[in-house]
Amino acid sequence: MERFSAVAIDGPAGSGKSTIARTVAQELGFLYIDTGAMYRSVALKAKLKGVDLEDEAAMAEVAAGVSICFDATGTRVLLDGADVSEQIRTPEITAITKYAARVVAVRERMVELQRAMAANRPVVMEGRDITTVVLKEAKWRFFVTASAEERANRRFKEFKERGHDVDYDQLLSEIIARDESDNEVGPMKDALEIAHNGGGIVLVDTTLMSPAQVVDAIVDNVRANP
Ligand code: DC
Repeated sequence: MERFSAVAIDGPAGSGKSTIARTVAQELGFLYIDTGAMYRSVALKAKLKGVDLEDEAAMAEVAAGVSICFDATGTRVLLDGADVSEQIRTPEITAITKYAARVVAVRERMVELQRAMAANRPVVMEGRDITTVVLKEAKWRFFVTASAEERANRRFKEFKERGHDVDYDQLLSEIIARDESDNEVGPMKDALEIAHNGGGIVLVDTTLMSPAQVVDAIVDNVRANP
């Protein structure tokens, strides 16, 4: 099977994988692709169209007709040509994205778009099913994680720094709830199992690491295994 010149990164909510993947892409000169932004975009479009989020056929139809593009840095997201980079990150969209992510036909369409994005150039792609489904033939595969408490702690500090008053226990229960809904999809469990069994996915536990250390560990691993 052909091995993609791609870095695939999966991990749970709050693991810091987006920042890490973006920096790894910059260092390697690869294109960065945030697949969570794509599921968020489908949810946003469904909401704007007034689609019943529980109606799987209607959600699939939204996904079938959607156009999602990224700018060269991978940080701006264009949904049907409009920049929705901020709109897809609101708490409301974060909460309803699961209605897009759980529909098989939506996932199939996203996987198709994601593979097309990785077909002609080296990418760093991050999400939940990249190492096990989308780019399972990627040359480099990583599962980035941290304890739920550490992930809640990082979110807590981020909010505080931005001057928002938040409750640590609430953040922790939100992280645990998102882990549960993400695990319903399945590939995350598969990725962890492969990582634990030495099946070619490198497990990076970032609980005691700085973001810069995580980036260095991944970039070093890629360069050491060309
Ligand atoms: O990484 P994120 O928080 O932006 O992801 C948003 C949601 O999309 C999250 O609840 C899980 C889902 N998702 C997914 O099911 N598969 C992916 N490849 C990426 C994200």
